[in-house]
Amino acid sequence: MPTRREAPSSTKDAEYQRLVQLIEPARLPRHVAIIMDGNGRWARERGLPRVAGHRAGVEALRGVVRTAGELGVPVLTVYAFSTENWKRPRHEIDALMNLIVEYLRKYLDELCSNQVHIRVLGDLDPLPAPIRRQVDLALERTRDHRRMTLAVAWNYGGRADIVKAVRQLAREVAAGRVDPEAIDEACLGRHLDTAGLPDPDLLIRCSGELRISNFLLWELAYTELWFTPVYWPDFDRVHLAEAILEYQRRRRRFGGLEGPDPVVPC
Ligand code: IPE
Ligand code: IPE
Ligand code: MG
Repeated sequence: MPTRREAPSSTKDAEYQRLVQLIEPARLPRHVAIIMDGNGRWARERGLPRVAGHRAGVEALRGVVRTAGELGVPVLTVYAFSTENWKRPRHEIDALMNLIVEYLRKYLDELCSNQVHIRVLGDLDPLPAPIRRQVDLALERTRDHRRMTLAVAWNYGGRADIVKAVRQLAREVAAGRVDPEAIDEACLGRHLDTAGLPDPDLLIRCSGELRISNFLLWELAYTELWFTPVYWPDFDRVHLAEAILEYQRRRRRFGGLEGPDPVVPC
């Protein structure tokens, strides 16, 4: 279970610095994706309403974006609201919508000064107009930033994204613009919300749940998975550094073999 006792910040700094020394900058993941889970349980353990957990989660996000930028991770994708989260009570949905706007409003200047380019994955159309306006402003103001991409998955579902891509392709085929035989993985990938982003090298899921919950189903094909029992509001720079170090210890084979080219049998 996640511990409720906070390490003093000087101890945390020292631990973070120790881990950073161990990270190989040349082998950083190009894309880290995070399922920010456990806000409700974090709040319940403290006798607080679930919304307090979401609020604390926003501050955790701020810290993790900063750390990812400092470490030099080029792309960070965070799962903030799934297509299934509409099943939650109305007041919780409203609070989550307001919090994302609050995050963008409060930290947009900081994101801009850190040269963060914001992208959104998911369908923003059903969201209330003031929320869409704030998101559009953030997209517009950060459009030319190149240091790091922060992709926020908001009203996002991996299956919905694949269905949308297939529908677009079907329309193009019906209009005679695309030959069905020319549709390959790269072509489908260009129709997903993640078009242009590398597939995640590392997926982090907080809160002890061992599932993907409809996140980036296509893109996670060969992603390294890292699960932690830590609730998202407690997730900090030390956890991110630990996850990256563990990633650097993994041996990725992508279906092939490790080491030098295998001898071809004659
Ligand atoms: C993650 O925390 C935030 C969202 C899904 C929007 P939860 O709200 O799922 O927290 P738990 O899993 O109930 O603890
Ligand atoms: C996944 O968390 C979605 C987000 C973090 C936005 P959930 O809490 O919605 O997932 P389940 O219900 O535990 O699978
Ligand atoms: Mg959850």
